Amino acid sequence: MADKHNEMNRDVWNEIVELHYNHPDYKLKEFLNGWNSLKKIERDALGDVNGKSLLHLMCQFGMDTLSWGRLGANVTGVDISDKSIEFAEKLKKQTGMADAKFVRSDIYDLIGKIDKKFDFIFMSHGTHPWFENLTKWAKTVAHYLKPGGTFFIVDGHPVADLFLWGDEFNYFHKGPYKEANWPDYCDREYKVKGESVEWMHKLSDFVNAMVKAGLTVVELNEYNKGYYDVKGNWVRKGDYWYPPEGPTKYPLMFSMKVRK
Ligand SMILES: C[S@@+](CC[C@H](N)C(=O)[O-])C[C@H]1O[C@@H](n2cnc3c(N)ncnc32)[C@H](O)[C@@H]1O
Repeated sequence: MADKHNEMNRDVWNEIVELHYNHPDYKLKEFLNGWNSLKKIERDALGDVNGKSLLHLMCQFGMDTLSWGRLGANVTGVDISDKSIEFAEKLKKQTGMADAKFVRSDIYDLIGKIDKKFDFIFMSHGTHPWFENLTKWAKTVAHYLKPGGTFFIVDGHPVADLFLWGDEFNYFHKGPYKEANWPDYCDREYKVKGESVEWMHKLSDFVNAMVKAGLTVVELNEYNKGYYDVKGNWVRKGDYWYPPEGPTKYPLMFSMKVRK
């Protein structure tokens, strides 16, 4: 049965994906001219993906998925949002990458929808707050990884919310955070109409979920730089963003590498 909260989020992402597809922050024009959207941390972590199979969870319109494809990986992207997958298919056509596959699915319901196992599973930047159940997430990762395969996540550090947005968040809060009318992260003038549902996860929750799914956490890292202009006045250096006063005293991102 479809998860009620995830379905609310599906509607929200159906509402906003076109805004992102056409927004200069996502650099569609540059991408169509050959630019690769992957950042240094994930490229260094996965290394040579040429000839390997790669599953990208929560891929939105697939720019990162197709970027792994440009590095030689045989890619499959998954997203809950129908419109995101439509835009991913459009981008696939525009880039002529006919072998890339996109599947519309809630990650909770993915098992059984793709009939293969992968060398790499990847997810990044704006993913984990969108689902509650880390056990189902880790089981899905364990199911789709080949023995010896690698899962890698790089994303916002949950502690960062407390430093960036203050009292609104509690690191130990277990229930959903429901929000409507929030400014879109690309087009801040646009207020998102649908109600979205997000969850706080502790860093230990990610590690424990993977361990309980029988996987081995081989690396956990924390970073004092962000993956986008969080406050509208941050400064870009290379692939990452810093507040005007420089690197933060608290973590903004984390990454975790896991093996089966
Ligand atoms: C911020 S995007 C992250 C993707 C990528 N880093 C990007 O910026 O394009 C989050 C994506 O997660 C997807 N999503 C949210 N909940 C999901 C779920 N339960 N299963 C699969 N995808 C989900 C949304 O539809 C959205 O496309």
